[in-house]
Amino acid sequence: MLVIGIETSCDETAVALVEDGLRVRSNVIGSQVDRHRPYGGVVPEVAARAHLELLLPVIDRALVESGCIYADIDAVAVTVGPGLVGTLLVGVAAGKSLALAHDLPLIGVNHLEGHVFATQLEFGRPAFPLVALIVSGGHTSLVLLDEEGGFTTLGTTVDDAAGEAFDKVARFLGLPYPGGPEIDRLARDGNPAAIAFPRAMLHDGTYDFSLSGLKTAVVRELRRRDATQQEVSLPDVAASFQEALVEVQVRKTIAAAREHGVDQVTVAGGVAANSRLRAAMAKASVDAGMRLLIPSPALCTDNGAMIAAAGSNRLAAGERTPLDVIVDPNLQFSSVPVLGGAP
Ligand code: KG4
Ligand code: ZN
Repeated sequence: MLVIGIETSCDETAVALVEDGLRVRSNVIGSQVDRHRPYGGVVPEVAARAHLELLLPVIDRALVESGCIYADIDAVAVTVGPGLVGTLLVGVAAGKSLALAHDLPLIGVNHLEGHVFATQLEFGRPAFPLVALIVSGGHTSLVLLDEEGGFTTLGTTVDDAAGEAFDKVARFLGLPYPGGPEIDRLARDGNPAAIAFPRAMLHDGTYDFSLSGLKTAVVRELRRRDATQQEVSLPDVAASFQEALVEVQVRKTIAAAREHGVDQVTVAGGVAANSRLRAAMAKASVDAGMRLLIPSPALCTDNGAMIAAAGSNRLAAGERTPLDVIVDPNLQFSSVPVLGGAP
């Protein structure tokens, strides 16, 4: 079963061909980073126009690289939300057109579900139950996937998302967009214990997160040092900020898994590409006797293969999305189980 996955929820025009929900035949990304960098962040209108320009060439390239033709494809999976309304519309219009023109079933995919199921492209279909930490530019949540694969949100950020915090702090440090990978790189030369930034909500007994206070603490510390003419090591600031963020995320993920009697955890979304988060999660899960599933960094950031993977699961479960489906910028997790049979 061959599924084409289309992802346009933010600033990556991404298309992939995936076989049986497990094997990546091609995974092409038309990056827009250069177009947004002058503005220091994603400009929705610029992103939507760029998707219009890039999507058809990216689809063509994904087909050529996979060695497949349209006649080989069994279904079209496309991100229907959450994301930017104008960018989602471009992908969904293309997905519907492909489905209609080639008489293929359409599967509308939740972007966050795509992030969670990216793991199956490297580790095979996950066994359930599973606790997933989803950390991206727009989301930070802890989710429980029960035995049937149904989602329950255990906690979420009360203010900024993790990627948003990385990007905002990076901008303040004068680093280019996107800031997450820049901080990751800079922090490798810094001391994570140099500055004791706050670990918000670490002991509050919930699985919620708060990151705007941490961001403000970084800004305040830099201003204080500037005012008192104290030397500032940017690598130390980056490493200390990253450590504070990572510590809370790791501790809450392990605590959630323990409380729910789950011995498998996964980390999904762009921030899961962060080297410190990956290392800290690896250590914490070994200490807790849990299995950790984190896809390679390239499958953590937005891509079409994760949409094809999640779409394949729903296709195998017999789901079909009507062609009049509309995009939903605020789409929540569906409680509909996502397991299905083998595709
Ligand atoms: O999942 P994603 O590609 O797009 C959204 O769905 O939002 O996540 C993008 C976010 C950005 O905020 C980016 O700075 C962050 O992921 N990110 C990272 C790293 N790579 C990407 N944050 C920290 N360290 C990284 N290595
Ligand atoms: Zn994403």
